[in-house]
Amino acid sequence: MKQLIVYSSQGGNTKKLAEEIFRQLPDEKDIKPIAGAPDPSGYDIVCMGFWFKAGQPDPAAQEYLKKCGGCKVFLFASHGAASGSAHAKMGMNKAIELTGGATVAGTFSCQGEVPAKVMETAAGKDPQPPWLKDAPNAKGHPNGNDFMNLSDALIKAGLKTVATPKGGSVVDGSHAM
Ligand SMILES: Cc1cc2nc3c(=O)[nH]c(=O)nc-3n(C[C@H](O)[C@H](O)[C@H](O)COP(=O)(O)O)c2cc1C
Repeated sequence: MKQLIVYSSQGGNTKKLAEEIFRQLPDEKDIKPIAGAPDPSGYDIVCMGFWFKAGQPDPAAQEYLKKCGGCKVFLFASHGAASGSAHAKMGMNKAIELTGGATVAGTFSCQGEVPAKVMETAAGKDPQPPWLKDAPNAKGHPNGNDFMNLSDALIKAGLKTVATPKGGSVVDGSHAM
């Protein structure tokens, strides 16, 4: 299976998720930053990563998502909002919408650390953005726990079969604790 991982990352959080996917996926795979990423059509699956800006995929990611229409995709993201929050779901739904009919094998998103300066700027806005109250808890994310949840999402999407615990060694079902 030919797999492509493409990521858009300004501060490095989404890049960490992309690199973890690259580490976890079996089979033939490529990983590329979004600038100069190849056309998605030549791949069996495209894992496309983005960060949230204004409650949506960041602008560079939006352009690439629009090219994924005929593809099978796994979408992943980092954001300041809490995992599983309405804001996080809304941004992911927007990404799915932008693909305009791609087959979505699965999705994953988690918090990504927000720089203090960004939080300061957001705090000065009126009204303050809805994700700001969650942003202090994003410190240290993505972390090992996020990577384990990412592993579960990749299994659920059918992209791999064995869980990868924190630290990276492979555990099969019979030995899982
Ligand atoms: C300009 C700017 C706008 C942001 N807007 C949002 C937002 O609308 N919702 C959100 O949950 N997080 C928002 N964030 C937080 C980032 O999405 C989060 O820190 C993410 O992990 C950054 O990913 P990166 O390090 O890969 O660039 C924003 C951050 C910046 C710098």
